[in-house]
Amino acid sequence: MSVGTACGKIILFGEHAVVYGRPALAVPFSELRASVTVKARTGQGIVIRARDLGREILVGDTARDDALAAITRLTLDKLGKSDNLELEVSSEIPLASGFGSGAAISTAIVRALASYFNSSLTPDEISTLVFETEKLYHGTPSGIDNTVIAYEQAIRFVRRPIGEHEILPIHIARPFTLLIADTGIASPTKVTVGDVRQGWERDPERYERVFDAIGAIVSEAQDALAHGENAQLGELMRRNHQALRALGVSSDEIERLIAAGSRAGASGAKLSGGGRGGNVLFFVEADEANVVRAAVLRAGAARVIVTVIGEKA
Ligand code: MEV
Repeated sequence: MSVGTACGKIILFGEHAVVYGRPALAVPFSELRASVTVKARTGQGIVIRARDLGREILVGDTARDDALAAITRLTLDKLGKSDNLELEVSSEIPLASGFGSGAAISTAIVRALASYFNSSLTPDEISTLVFETEKLYHGTPSGIDNTVIAYEQAIRFVRRPIGEHEILPIHIARPFTLLIADTGIASPTKVTVGDVRQGWERDPERYERVFDAIGAIVSEAQDALAHGENAQLGELMRRNHQALRALGVSSDEIERLIAAGSRAGASGAKLSGGGRGGNVLFFVEADEANVVRAAVLRAGAARVIVTVIGEKA
């Protein structure tokens, strides 16, 4: 039996604009993981059991549009292997919540299969395989989710043609506390990315201006992180969120949580990921985290996680 695991991800700055070639900053979120075990099957073929998703898939020719079946086939092709296998998928990462659950499950499948066949794949090879299934989940993904999850490293990402993305590790000089509030609302990235695309097609100039503004915020944030100027991060998050609002990907629930957390002392907040649901990030001082946590829970957050970014970098 072999096991593969993968972390989730948090986009700190730059979501959506990253689809249009602007930079974004993302960090691995290791507290929540997806995990896959692979073992030999006595019956014929490959079966994937994903109890959390309530699914059992027999991998066959008809399952080409299923992401779990697709990544299994792609990985076996890449490894040049075929066998009768049983895959057991489990994940602590909530679905459609901005944590990259789909990319994490796919990455865990690739790692478990590679380990089962005693092969090793580079982070770039894993990321390229997983990107294929991201297209099934997300339509036109930038590639940032599969990249940060496969590398499990804080990165600055700029979308380029596949295989040529700019992927640079980022330096976080001083760790900082991030409070992550889950709206409890599942919001598929495919929908918000599609809506932004429609808006951009209607009014490209306005959207390009917003994307440029987000790109500039990302560069300022990267500098602030590199120089330990964490006091700037709250304001940069506020500005990034305003730009995301202008793209139409916020929601009443997100705004309610942001208002409550800000009143309770968070110096900045923004949605993270696709938006309209999923997660909201709050930049907090460590000693304020409990007060902000209580306030966003009162305002309706489904759950709150407090984490320190940069400690393990
Ligand atoms: C989703 O985690 C981030 C988006 O920018 C989409 C993408 O980059 O593929 C919204």
